[in-house]
Amino acid sequence: MVKYKVTVTTAERLHSGTKNHVFIKLVGTEGESERKQLCSLTRHKPFTRGAVSSFTVSCPVSLGKLLLIEVDKTPRFLFPDDSWFPCKVHVTSPEGDAYHFPIYRWISDSRDHLFREGTALQVFEDTHHLGRYSREQELRWRKEQYCWAVPVEGAPHCLRVDSLHSLPCEVRFSFTKKTEFDWTAIAALTELKLKRLADSTDNWTDISAMQRIFYNKTTQLADYVRAHWKDDDFFGYQFLNGVNPMLIRRCSALPENFPVTDDMVFLHGSGSLAEELQKGNMFLCDYKRLDGVTTQIINGKKQYLMAPLVLLHRTPDNKLKPVAIQLKQKPADDNPIFVPTDSEYDWLMAKIFVRSADFSEHQLNAHLLRTHLLAEAFAVSLLRNLPMVHPLYKLLIPHTRYTIHINHLARLQLISETGVFTEFSASGGDGMVQILQRALSSLTYASLCLPDDIAERGLDSVPNFYYRDDGLRLWDIIHRFVRGVLAYFYRRDADVQRDSELQAWIQEIFIHGFLSQASTGIPQSFSSVAELAKFVTMVIFTGSAQHAAVNSGQFDYGGWMPNSPTSLQRPPPTVKGSADECSMLQTLPATNTTVNGMATLWLLSRQSSDFVPLAHYPEEHFAEEIPRKLMRDFQGELEDLSAAIKSRNRRLDVPYTYLDPALVENSVSI
Ligand code: FE2
Repeated sequence: MVKYKVTVTTAERLHSGTKNHVFIKLVGTEGESERKQLCSLTRHKPFTRGAVSSFTVSCPVSLGKLLLIEVDKTPRFLFPDDSWFPCKVHVTSPEGDAYHFPIYRWISDSRDHLFREGTALQVFEDTHHLGRYSREQELRWRKEQYCWAVPVEGAPHCLRVDSLHSLPCEVRFSFTKKTEFDWTAIAALTELKLKRLADSTDNWTDISAMQRIFYNKTTQLADYVRAHWKDDDFFGYQFLNGVNPMLIRRCSALPENFPVTDDMVFLHGSGSLAEELQKGNMFLCDYKRLDGVTTQIINGKKQYLMAPLVLLHRTPDNKLKPVAIQLKQKPADDNPIFVPTDSEYDWLMAKIFVRSADFSEHQLNAHLLRTHLLAEAFAVSLLRNLPMVHPLYKLLIPHTRYTIHINHLARLQLISETGVFTEFSASGGDGMVQILQRALSSLTYASLCLPDDIAERGLDSVPNFYYRDDGLRLWDIIHRFVRGVLAYFYRRDADVQRDSELQAWIQEIFIHGFLSQASTGIPQSFSSVAELAKFVTMVIFTGSAQHAAVNSGQFDYGGWMPNSPTSLQRPPPTVKGSADECSMLQTLPATNTTVNGMATLWLLSRQSSDFVPLAHYPEEHFAEEIPRKLMRDFQGELEDLSAAIKSRNRRLDVPYTYLDPALVENSVSI
């Protein structure tokens, strides 16, 4: 008889232990063991939370090189079947060889579960018939579990989920996250002490009343926003370092529908408009995507959403100042071009309409589409096409954590017919569908890759642009890490070309994430390691850094409602000189819209206690030393970047923290 030492580690997470009987079968190149119950002489309960328990499995002869294990469990007499979350199984063979089997998933039923030895293998390397068989079985099962659905025509496809309970266990929130995360507006309204106002349809009668409710709970930055929301400098600053740094671009020639002339604008001690355009000192934010979008009815009133054009000037002292705003796309006598020298309320109202347009553009395009929905398409395709033993599965699965679950909740609680976003924002309902469709049809691959995006928008040399500075450094570090890992597994371009599972992954992303729009520039297949490395960098960057940049500051910038109204109740002024404080207060959202918006943004900006920062990989999917070392290097580089960002931030009036790697989560999870 020969003996195998089997060590099973159960996860530390809540409710991860099992009281069931656990069985294992070892399968090697020379044969397989019997199905053996794992009984411990020293531990009464060997599979409790956090337990590391060792067992002996005896076989008549050596099994050769171990390929996989089969694990199953059955309930004890009179005990119910329960769920178990094992992390990993280590096996030491009689020859002294060590085998690592990563598991990291719930086992909730009594069927056999196959797990491969941890050494990563692409399909063309997996030559043993048992390896191939288990690979096919796994993908067949996954394709039954993970099916595509079309939630909104013209938007990325998502996972088909009939109810929260039918969400596969492996993609669900942990118990910790679930218990902490009560995603209801009611819970947040209670926390913010705003519940009594949630049904009030009254308009605000003065700004000080808004201030009183705002002080129930705030952040340092939200308070700064409250104090500076009217300042032109700060209005310009937000296009670079607020929650939506994605729209601004350098402007070398004004669009035809924005007839700003030299005599309209004052360019702060600089040359003429034509000279400043030529020098590269003018910038444009064009919300044309919002033109003609159907708006919601809130409190029985039609709501207003404009499609503004904003012209900004980089001043000699490196500030970005708005110099002209046109609120509708088509120039007309009743569509004046507002400038800072207009009356206080004309100019302020123009900026409020821009900030409200930015709320919809940010939430639906920059946040929902470009991070949440794309991240889900990457994840669903991964789960359907790459088995656990594939190196790309091991690399990317930590970057998909909770994404499918949070998106399912968003569909239930935010953008469903009765969702908070639908009920309380101008672009809820039909408007949302129109914006998502327009945004996806104009989305490009280059715009998802930060270095290309910055170059294309002409923003390389804009001063005080921390989203770009921190983002580019993060992109580089992620890219270096990804290149290192992929170079280890793909020695030559031909390896990429013949990896049929990898090609199936990108193909489904192209079809279901980008709706087969070849004009996006999204690859439909990979032909080189470099192409693959760039795409995988984009996938990790999108789910981590990019999501943090557009998610974490939602309450900071939107908590003070006038800086980011979710909707506006009156149309904008059509002539100059008609706006005053009273018309502004009647235009801003009513009380219920304000507090529901605040509560939702509060909820979406919170960090969970089981947050996993970028580059932390608590699950050991890789058995090889090289990728593990690359992960440690990756963490080290991010620690240095985090220290540099913290040190830079100490010198800033408004610190830019959203891309500090210590605060960036590994995946879209909120
Ligand atoms: Fe988010």
